[in-house]
Amino acid sequence: MFLIKLNATDSTNSYIKDLAQKQDLNDFTVVVAKYQKKGRGQMGTMWESESGKNLTFSVFTKFLNYEIDKQFYLSMAVSLALINVIKQYVNTPIYIKWPNDILAENNKIAGILIENTIKLNKIKSSIIGIGLNINQSEFSDSIKNVTSLRNLLGKNVNEDVLLEEIIRKLKTNILELENQNFDKIKIQYLKFLYKYNESANFIDYNDRKFIGKIIDISKTGKLIVKIKSEMNREFGLKEISFL
Ligand code: BTN
Repeated sequence: MFLIKLNATDSTNSYIKDLAQKQDLNDFTVVVAKYQKKGRGQMGTMWESESGKNLTFSVFTKFLNYEIDKQFYLSMAVSLALINVIKQYVNTPIYIKWPNDILAENNKIAGILIENTIKLNKIKSSIIGIGLNINQSEFSDSIKNVTSLRNLLGKNVNEDVLLEEIIRKLKTNILELENQNFDKIKIQYLKFLYKYNESANFIDYNDRKFIGKIIDISKTGKLIVKIKSEMNREFGLKEISFL
């Protein structure tokens, strides 16, 4: 891996994006920052992380022949890499909350922001941004249901070791995708999916509340929910949330 360590930057995703525009980056170039001034989350949110306490990093990956309609499998592969590593450290149940929040029981411990460069229906390269809460023990009141490895274990964990383990797992999982082993990745994803095959309370984009069961993920990454006495419904991002 080609590792760039920064003390501070706006966002490691943005840093790699700028760099990729200026030079030809090697596959698996990694940028890690102690502090992000404008850490970005999914759907325009902010990612807050105390300086020097957690992992905030981005990985640049190149693809030779990766169809755009398989992009959700990349998201699954990244979630699974994180799950696999986190599980080595804690006994707490770890889940993936669709699409790709990583939870320890009911609290978020990691987030993923993937930004793809697309050409002619193929993903040419991806910037995989990961924020993993490691040694931060207190979070601002505005952030609810959040935790860290430290809070779960009661002791600090070495961030560099974790980074290496995550990158190694990411490489393995991305290789699975390049070898077209999509089903293998999906089967594992469903194994860790939060509230999979369990009745749960949801609210949809029309503010309609209902009880349903997540029964599958579509090929494009939509959530397929079974609702009693109705046809199964598919939901995209922003169209459904847990109550
Ligand atoms: C989310 O759950 O909302 C996604 C959070 C992603 C945060 C990481 S931290 C490293 C990388 N750089 C960013 O600006 N964001 C991602």
